[in-house]
Amino acid sequence: MIKILAIESSCDETSAAIISDGRVLSNIIANQDIHAEYGGVVPEFASRSHQENIVPVTEMALKKAGSELKEMNAIAVTVGPGLMGALLVGVSFAKSLAYGLNIPLIEVNHMQAHILAHFAEPPFPSFPFLCLTVSGGHTQIVLVRDHLNMQIIGQTLDDAVGEAFDKSGKIFGLGYPAGPVIDKLAQKGEANIKFPQPQIPGLDFSFSGVKTAVLYHVQNEVRKDADYIKNNIERLCASLQYTLVQILIKKLIKASVDHNIKQIAIAGGVSANSGLRSAIIETGLKLGWQTYIPRFEYCTDNAAMIGVAGYYKFLANQFSSLDITPSARLPF
Ligand code: KG4
Ligand code: ZN
Repeated sequence: MIKILAIESSCDETSAAIISDGRVLSNIIANQDIHAEYGGVVPEFASRSHQENIVPVTEMALKKAGSELKEMNAIAVTVGPGLMGALLVGVSFAKSLAYGLNIPLIEVNHMQAHILAHFAEPPFPSFPFLCLTVSGGHTQIVLVRDHLNMQIIGQTLDDAVGEAFDKSGKIFGLGYPAGPVIDKLAQKGEANIKFPQPQIPGLDFSFSGVKTAVLYHVQNEVRKDADYIKNNIERLCASLQYTLVQILIKKLIKASVDHNIKQIAIAGGVSANSGLRSAIIETGLKLGWQTYIPRFEYCTDNAAMIGVAGYYKFLANQFSSLDITPSARLPF
């Protein structure tokens, strides 16, 4: 039996998980509420919270799994991409544990781990599959050939789709992160405001234009009616969400056709979005896709996905030395 303690601290969630032969025994996630009042993640506060949370979160993960540190065969940790100061807390903690326990350290790429979250519990996608990875920092279409063999075939040229949700939400005065709030409000409104969709060739995305269109629309309408946002928030959210989901789905369809792959998965924080989830299912039914959508818990940042990625790296003997350093930007 291979038991792995996994640590995630790349952004504003401190998380620890215990993985046994690829199965999740525990997955503890501490959110950081402090950023909400600042309208975005404040890197310095994130690092401090990670430092406070990392030991109790790890202890809780061990306790919930009914495991002890001495049973661990390896420590897996996110090395990037993410906030440097935040990553440093997790990486330093993981290194000291690996050193103290005299067990191997496994470095994990956060974006690859979002994709490998699909192997946290069945049904598992079969290879090759396409994964639309959508988060606060990334928007990618990834061709996944194997657990550890992935290629980005399309990505955003500017903002990530999560950023488009969050920045538009800021314009609506919705606080941070606005994505989940927009999702809830959108379910009560009609998508009857037309925001322009970008014309980007190939499989790449662009979202900055939508955000600007939302800003101009709101500024224009607020000049006529000071309460415009308040009175129209549900249709504003529904229209924004519809536009963003359409942009994603169109490129996913193109990727499926171009690569002749009908195994389609979504991953990352924005894959928690109900509009995106139902659009993927509906499109899949029409086009004969086999679709894979992880449980909410495995969509947003969590250590279970780091542990699952660590497990496959363990099987492939991909261990790291204790002098690794985190990278804010990290290619596959
Ligand atoms: O993957 P994640 O937890 O962290 C990053 O690695 O970025 O993704 C966070 C992003 C945020 O932009 C947040 O607003 C968005 O995911 N998000 C959502 C929903 N839940 C989280 N966006 C739209 N609808 C949701 N239900
Ligand atoms: Zn993430």
